[in-house]
Amino acid sequence: MQTRILCQRDIKRILSVVGRDEVMDRLISEMQREFARLGRGETDPPPSRTGFARRGDVPGVIEFMPHRAAGVGVTMKTVSYSPQNPERFHLPTIVGTVSRLDDDSGSLVALADAGTITAMRTGAVAGVATRLLARPGSTTLGLVGAGAQAVTQAHALSRVLPLERILVSDIRPAHAESFAFRVAFLGLAVEVTDAATATAAADVLSTATSVPVGGGPVVPAAPRPGHLHVNAIGADEPGKTELPRALLDDAFICVDHPGQARAEGEFQQLPDRDLGPSLADLCAAPRLAAPHRDGVSVFDSTGSAFADHIALDVLLGFADELGLGRKMTIESAPEDVLDPYSLQW
Ligand SMILES: NC(=O)c1ccc[n+]([C@@H]2O[C@H](COP(=O)([O-])OP(=O)(O)OC[C@H]3O[C@@H](n4cnc5c(N)ncnc54)[C@H](O)[C@@H]3O)[C@@H](O)[C@H]2O)c1
Repeated sequence: MQTRILCQRDIKRILSVVGRDEVMDRLISEMQREFARLGRGETDPPPSRTGFARRGDVPGVIEFMPHRAAGVGVTMKTVSYSPQNPERFHLPTIVGTVSRLDDDSGSLVALADAGTITAMRTGAVAGVATRLLARPGSTTLGLVGAGAQAVTQAHALSRVLPLERILVSDIRPAHAESFAFRVAFLGLAVEVTDAATATAAADVLSTATSVPVGGGPVVPAAPRPGHLHVNAIGADEPGKTELPRALLDDAFICVDHPGQARAEGEFQQLPDRDLGPSLADLCAAPRLAAPHRDGVSVFDSTGSAFADHIALDVLLGFADELGLGRKMTIESAPEDVLDPYSLQW
């Protein structure tokens, strides 16, 4: 049994040959289709993730995110959120790998870098939520937090809305200043501003900050337009939230992972409120989303292994088309399966 390995170089090749817009478009359409299947009960939801939290001098989490598609395979992402990585180690805040196991034998079929694909799938899922809940024709995107996820938020949302300008804000001025360069490929006007101005002027707002536990909110509740849609991306850990309670109280909220929302998402702030229809429910029945497009809506995203599973399928599909991915024998296949010492050379 050989394992297909997709490393950084393979993913770079997919993005350059296929094109990042085409890859993003495929991710968005696959997410929409598969979340709709989930909403119709045609596939099983992923369990909640688990992991280890580090407090102290180098805070962060290392998490394990599983999903099983019965008869197809099990996807497991091992991912770390280490917000001091950029400054301390010159690494992204999110680093990880995603693996696929054969559902029948348990063998490791594929192993891939998860950094870029996590950012792209997070953008793609927000794109699906935004297409359902934002006012059609929205032109102004506000971004609070100008790190790695902000790049793919801008990219994905530019594929589902006729965006013209982005208002970006970050507590680190250098991150806000370099954002225009990182999204130059979108050809949109980018202005650096503060969180309050972005909230007041945006049609759609994405919050993707590394705010520490207990450090939120990162935006004010007002002023804001009456039709604002917010993608809340950064609330994904107990105690870590980005939005003010007053904004949530006024909003229609949909979650990507009902099991995680109350423990890690913005729903931590709403212990007595029903979760309401999830993203999967809205994808299965888009008429449920339509009445909310002219009001305030929030997509409460904690991130799901279901989305990782879909993204890995998309990546493996492109790798197949391009003949990418080195094959390695990692797992033992002893000559005598009853003798673990009979390993082959
Ligand atoms: N929901 C999901 O599926 C999902 C997926 C990946 C990452 N995330 C989360 O998204 C967030 C951003 O991740 P990233 O990879 O972009 O990290 P990053 O470190 O690349 O960027 C985070 C940015 O937020 C800024 N920031 C921190 N506190 C802020 C504040 N109070 N106001 C404004 N800006 C602030 C930082 O200066 C930094 O530029 C993290 O919380 C991460 O856990 C969620």
